[in-house]
Amino acid sequence: MSRLIIVSNRVAPISEGGPAAGGLAVGVYDALKETGGMWFGWSGDVVSAPPDGITLEERGPVTFATIGLVRRDYDQYYRGFSNATLWPAFHYRPDLIQFDRHEFDGYCRVNRWLGQQLAPLLKPDDVIWVHDYHLIPFAQALREIGVTNRIGFFLHIPFPASQILLSVPRHRELVEALCSFDLLGFQTAPDLRAFCDYIECEANGSIVRHASKPCEISAFGKTLKAAAYPIGVYPDEIAALAKDGESGRDVRTVKATLHQRKLVMSVDRLDYSKGLVERFRAFERLIEHQPQQRNNVSFLQIAPPTRSDVDAYRDIRLQLEAESGRINGRYAELDWTPIRYIHRQYERPVLAALFRESHVGFVTPLRDGMNLVAKEYVSAQDPADPGVLVLSQFAGAARELNGALIVNPLDIDGMADALATALAMPLADRQARYREMFDSLRENNVSVWRDNFMRDLRD
Ligand code: G6P
Repeated sequence: MSRLIIVSNRVAPISEGGPAAGGLAVGVYDALKETGGMWFGWSGDVVSAPPDGITLEERGPVTFATIGLVRRDYDQYYRGFSNATLWPAFHYRPDLIQFDRHEFDGYCRVNRWLGQQLAPLLKPDDVIWVHDYHLIPFAQALREIGVTNRIGFFLHIPFPASQILLSVPRHRELVEALCSFDLLGFQTAPDLRAFCDYIECEANGSIVRHASKPCEISAFGKTLKAAAYPIGVYPDEIAALAKDGESGRDVRTVKATLHQRKLVMSVDRLDYSKGLVERFRAFERLIEHQPQQRNNVSFLQIAPPTRSDVDAYRDIRLQLEAESGRINGRYAELDWTPIRYIHRQYERPVLAALFRESHVGFVTPLRDGMNLVAKEYVSAQDPADPGVLVLSQFAGAARELNGALIVNPLDIDGMADALATALAMPLADRQARYREMFDSLRENNVSVWRDNFMRDLRD
């Protein structure tokens, strides 16, 4: 069997049980540790001088191949074009797009440079799987230096509707670069449709659609395939982690301070796409309109810091601090704080155990490619007494998790009503919803995601 080479910007600092990183790192690591292979990407370090080569580190069956970025590359490629231009555009926030042509040039330059670093490590039958929006020009860069291996791309975030994508300067070059891959994978059918719409309506390309196979695309003088492959989790592993952590110190502390109150819980990177302000207001609306809930329920929001050197992230942090302060100031009592907002990272087993302890998982992004927290929340539940998932219709996961209470994250009253329904839901109803979702997570676990993508890429 050919070797699998994973390429992504973020290579997880993963030791088993280490801090929970973003969705990509967790999902990709789960997929890779079973098959083994190499994972190449940024080390996470900003270095003072151009690195003189890749650092290789073996951990079990996985070889981690990482490299530092100099400040200018970090600023232009990562902080700039990836996270201040593409991220807001792909999350339907054209109002937050910042564009600088030097950053775009830097983005392309770093993709070419990363390709040059990887090329000498490649063997002829390696299959290369590239991940996420930082690396859209990566296949084009490899092809330019003569790499002929199969190269696939998976987009972990949404692919925006054409009218939004058109607001990104140089959008045509980006889509043309995507067409250098052999296979493109999207999280959901609407993302795939949005891409196909651009190809047909903006790029004058053509598409042959099949019922149960990837569609075939011809555009920019190239042919490739594309399909939707929703990323999964390993629900049984998460369930075991959650059960093991039940008696851990953090869970005992939370339990002791709750004093039998119910717990609503969320975990998100502190990102404006996650709908955190709206979520805080929905919790406020619940305790405002249903005074009997006061002092009977607490909301725990864990929001680890992320990309804090991008302006929009500084803004959302300030907004959130103001909202939690305002709401707690208005409703807190001597022995009860309505919102516990924690701006730091916890380890994956601790989060799983806290999910199991909570009565409601409140996952309401304004846009999200998939949202693995939603899948992890369901996986972590106690089958005998499961919590209820309240989930945004704009998370990719909403298309699979039929047992969740689906909400519009802009409808504050609707979210407050869903919280009330979740908190009062009878056991039999909770169990039926949990069982349906757990079964579907098992059926479409992360191995299925990987195997389906690799089958189509090797085909
Ligand atoms: C999302 C993105 C990933 C990214 C992660 C963490 O899940 O899809 O590509 O790695 O966020 O963000 P960061 O900027 O810290 O890598």
